Formats: sequence, C-alpha cells, structure tokens
Amino acid sequence: MSGSERVFGCYRQLSPNTTIIVNSSAASGHDHHTGNLIQVGLRHAPRTEIIREMPVVKYSTPDEVLAEALSLAALPAGAVESRLEMLRLRYREAPLLFTQETLQLLREAGERAKQARADACDDRALAALKEVFGYPTFRAGQLEIIRAAMAGRDCLGVMPTGAGKSVTYQIPARLMGGVTLVVSPLISLMKDQVDAMGEVGIRATFLNSSLDPAEWSQRAARLRAGEFEMLYAAPEGIDASVGQLLDSLDLKLVAVDEAHCISEWGHDFRPSYRNLAGLKRRFKGIPILALTATATPRVKNDIIEQLALQNPLEVRGSFFRHNLHLFAVKKGKGDGVRDMILRLVRARPGEAGIVYCLSRKAAETTAEFLEGKGVHAAAYHAGLTPEQRANTQDKFSRDDLDVVCATIAFGMGIDKSNVRFILHRDMPRSIEGYYQEIGRAGRDGAPADCVLFYSWADVMSLDRLLENSEVQDPEVADQQRRAVRRMFDLADSPACLWRRLAGYFAEAVAACGESCGSCLKRDIVGDARPAARPSGKKDWKKKRPALEGASRPLEDFDAKPYKPERDAPELTEAIPDPGLFERLRALRKTLADERKVPAFVVFSDQALQDMAARKPRTRHEFLEVHGVGQKKLEEYGDSFLAEILRER
Ligand SMILES: Nc1ncnc2c1ncn2[C@@H]1O[C@H](COP(=O)(O)OP(=O)(O)OP(=O)(O)O)[C@@H](O)[C@H]1O
Ligand SMILES: [Mg+2]
Ligand SMILES: [Zn+2]
Repeated sequence: MSGSERVFGCYRQLSPNTTIIVNSSAASGHDHHTGNLIQVGLRHAPRTEIIREMPVVKYSTPDEVLAEALSLAALPAGAVESRLEMLRLRYREAPLLFTQETLQLLREAGERAKQARADACDDRALAALKEVFGYPTFRAGQLEIIRAAMAGRDCLGVMPTGAGKSVTYQIPARLMGGVTLVVSPLISLMKDQVDAMGEVGIRATFLNSSLDPAEWSQRAARLRAGEFEMLYAAPEGIDASVGQLLDSLDLKLVAVDEAHCISEWGHDFRPSYRNLAGLKRRFKGIPILALTATATPRVKNDIIEQLALQNPLEVRGSFFRHNLHLFAVKKGKGDGVRDMILRLVRARPGEAGIVYCLSRKAAETTAEFLEGKGVHAAAYHAGLTPEQRANTQDKFSRDDLDVVCATIAFGMGIDKSNVRFILHRDMPRSIEGYYQEIGRAGRDGAPADCVLFYSWADVMSLDRLLENSEVQDPEVADQQRRAVRRMFDLADSPACLWRRLAGYFAEAVAACGESCGSCLKRDIVGDARPAARPSGKKDWKKKRPALEGASRPLEDFDAKPYKPERDAPELTEAIPDPGLFERLRALRKTLADERKVPAFVVFSDQALQDMAARKPRTRHEFLEVHGVGQKKLEEYGDSFLAEILRER
C-alpha cells in the first residue's frame, strides 16, 4: 500500500488525474457533489471499469488544503467520498501541503464515509432480504458476512446446518451486479437450487456434467451476455470448461459452499475441491466467501490456507436453533422402539420426517414395518442402486413420500426445508453426526421435533462396528470410541440438551427453556397417543405448556451467551386455522407439481402457517406473510388469496 492509501484509507490504485470507478453504485449512489471538482458521468458498463479523466483542482497552500478538509465535516457523509478522492491525488503529488491537523481531519472524514458506505450496504441488504425472500430480519452472522463480501473482503462463515448460509451469497449476488460463482459439491442439488432461485426472482443457472454440450454452450453464451446473476458449478468444472469460461465473465464474488470438503481433516474430503486452490491468484481482487458448518480449527485453517484467503473475516453463527425441539428417550424401558416410532409418525400425518438407523438392515426393516402400517415410507442407504436412491430422494423432496428410513448415507443432499421430524432409531456415532442429522429438520424455521432413542446397548453395537471397520490406526479408533461415549453422555444427562449441545461446540447458551425435552418437561412419546388415527391435526398446533421462567436465564454464564432473535413471530402460539392450512398445503402441492419443482420451493411450511394465521385479504397483506417476496406475490399471490377468501 502506498503512503496516501494508508493515510486516507484508500483502497484503490490511482494514478494522478484519473479516477477509476470500480463499482457503479459507489459513484451513482453517493456522488451528489457536483461542485467544481468532479463530475463523473456514469454510463452503465458492467463488464469494464470506467476510466475517465477528471480535472483536479490544484490546492497550492497548506491553508487551502486545510480549508477543504474542514469543509468536509459539514457535508453529508455520502458526499465526502469524491472530495476525499481528490485530496488523495493531491497528497501523492505534494504531501507537504498536508499538516498533521489536516490529516487527522481527513482520517475522520474517511471513517465517516466508510461508515456511510456500511450503513448503505446494510440498508440495501435488508431491503433485498425483504423484497426477494420475504424475511423480516437477518439471522445471526448473515449481515456480517454480506457486508464483508460487498466490501470486497474474503470471509469464512461457519454456520451450522440450516442456519442460512445461502442467503449470504445470494444477496450479494443480487446487489453486486455481475456474476457470483457458487461452488457447490452436489450436482444432484443444483437444479433444485437454481429452481429455488428462479422462484424468488434471482437469475441463476448451473453448469455441470449433466448438461449436453448444446445446452452447456447456450448457457455459457447467456452468461457471457450478462443474463445471469449466479452461476452454480461443481469443483470438477473449475479446472476445466467452467474455469475457462470464467475469464469472460464479469465475476464479482466466489462463494465456496461446503468449504470443509477442501480439507483432508474434514469428514467429507473431496479431492476435486483442490481445484479451487488457484482461484484467488487467478481472480485477484475478487472476494472469496467460504462457507461451512464444520468449525474445528484444523479444518478452518486448512480452508483459509488452501483457498489462499487474505485476511478473512471469520463469522460464526449460533448452534442454537430454537425451532428444533430436542428429545432424548432411553430405549429398553416399556415399549419397543419400533412401536414408539410408529406412534410418533402417526401423530404427524402427512408430515415429512427422517428415521435415522445405524444399519442398512435396520433402515430396511423399519421402512417395511412402517409401510405395513400404512405410512408412506421407504428406505435409503448405500446398498441401494444410485437410481433407487435418487428416486427415493426425489419422491421425498416432492412430498410424495412422508418418511425416509435412512443410514447416514442420507445426508448432505437434503435441502428440503419442510422436514418436520427426525427420529434416531439408534444413537449416532458422534455429537457432530447427531447435530448434522437433526439439522436437516425445520430449515424453514417452523417447529420440528427431533427424538433421539439411545441406550448403552447402542454404545456396544457401535464399538463392535468400529472393531470390524477398516480403521487401523489405534489412535483414530480410540478417538471414535470416545466420540461414541460423549454422544451417550449428552443423551443421558438430565440438563438442557441445547445448552449441552452448543457447549460441546464451544458456544455458551443459557438453558433453552422451550426447545428441549428437559426444559419443556414433556414426554414426547407419551403425547403421541397410541394408535392415534390420522386426524388431520398437526403437532405444531398443540398449545405449548405455559412455561415458568421460559426466558432463558443468562446470568449464570461468564461469556455473553448468544441471545437469538426470533426470525418470525412465534407461529405456534397463534393456533392457525388447521382446515385452511391443509387447503393451502394441497394448493402448494398442485402448483409445485405443475411446475415440476419440490413443494417447499413454492412456499415453506412456515410461510403456509403464517398465511393460515394471518389470513391476508389483499395483495398488500399477502406481502406481509413470512417468506413472501415480490416475485412470490406475483407468481402465487392471486391463487393463494383466492383460496384464503373462499368460504369466508
Ligand atoms: N434471515 C432469514 N430469515 C428466515 N429464514 C431464513 C433466513 N435466512 C435463511 N433462511 C431460510 O433458512 C433455510 C436454511 O437456509 P440454508 O439452506 O441457506 O441453510 P445452510 O446454512 O446452507 O444449511 P446447510 O449447512 O444444511 O447447507 C432456508 O429455507 C432459508 O430460506
Ligand atoms: Mg447450504
Ligand atoms: Zn433446554
């Protein structure tokens, strides 16, 4: 950095008498100053930097410079930037004109301008969150990441499953112009991701090996023509065809999703992620946003090193997700686990859930058992053919299948947002695994129940499994055995499950008060009446027990615990109209099938619940519904309003 840049906090490389406007909004947004210094006519030319000559006023005495510096204080913050730029140029030519007093004033003006830019960025980001996604507030960490990306800074976002990492690149993609490249490991998910973007009105596409050459070239041409804001690609493509295309795009941001896949220390290492190692060098100046749910220091350092992130901002989200209600039930007392699972499933007719099982065999038999009892269930495990697996996943995501009985093979591919329950038939082998699996529930923010069945016998089974596995390294084997025991301890302790779970990930949260079995003092299995017939009633409609001291006691912690903001009004409190909810759900399914997209892509469960509670009558009221942005209003507003107004 040159001296002038240090003094004024300038971040652009300027040559005398030339201003380079890198970002159109920077100039058009704030440049109200039309005095005798600059007049920048801005044409919209997204692909190139606009370089224009501008007249520079030659301050020739220290007093003149001081007077200019003093006058900056009277200007609105947004108008300061262009004047500062002029002074930076002059400083390079004649530093002696700048006294200590002047420099101090300019530093202050620089800070104000920076703050103004940050505020403007926050406002635009929030407006986009509302307009595009229909969400009223950011979740923990989201805004910090968006700010960094938009300011051109590399960033590592560690946010747990379902916390909302995608929004952190989708909003910059909308606001920064040009193209945001999203590197994502699962080709099978890209179509749904792109469809979901289409549903909210973001122009996205994907390029991967599933496309035929003609389709591929057509998309590439449209990308070059600036038709898309987002490009999803797999790491395999970055070294090859996609990588070549990138040179001809107006690339603004690279988001590396599931970034832990780059690390050998992570649980999902993918060699192809190493193709990303050269990106930062190749696209100098373009910020990289690495996102993951894995927080171990080793993996984190590996990500930073391999992606060559420069001075990255590290942002951590919270592990606490208040809408996931966690329960641990010890097996071997009273009813068999199969019957308890059946009871829980029957108490949630028409709702989507996953039953995690330890072995393929258990997944098969549980699915068969449930099917035999009239539940739409299927098994999913690594022993099935890829076609069988894809078929099951597809049916599940399209709401044609209610329950999937799965081994851990059913994991990363699930972005279905309306999974309403996760049942662990057997204890998972680690707390990390448990957290990932429950994270598949309630991604839409609506309540979901996670019931963990566990026993010491499970610990023994897992030990046996480990003994028979290929792991040779005694240290690794020992670690795994310890992980199993930690998982058992977590399940078996009477304290708040969320508090212990977050604590395991080194986050201090107070007792949740309302999101776990011990705080709720609720017997989740007992609540599910034996052999209850499908009644059309949803569990979330159950009135919550009144909780004394439900507000979480924060005092007993040294570190300031994360205090989550509610994403939306507590929908469970306002018991919505169940009949209406069912009608809205049916309408959603019809519309989704017509468009060949998963139902949750049309509206989340939370959106439908909010709709049933608010009963909007006008388009304006419809826009108030959680998850309704401008595009959804236009696409679906009339159909859903008609359904709501019917029979009223
Ligand atoms: N600020 C918000 N308010 C309400 N809902 C939100 C907000 N941000 C994201 N969401 C919703 O949360 C859900 C989960 O988001 P997302 O898919 O980005 O999770 P993720 O962090 O990528 O999880 P994973 O690690 O499983 O990929 C989505 O349905 C998304 O629309
Ligand atoms: Mg994600
Ligand atoms: Zn609790």
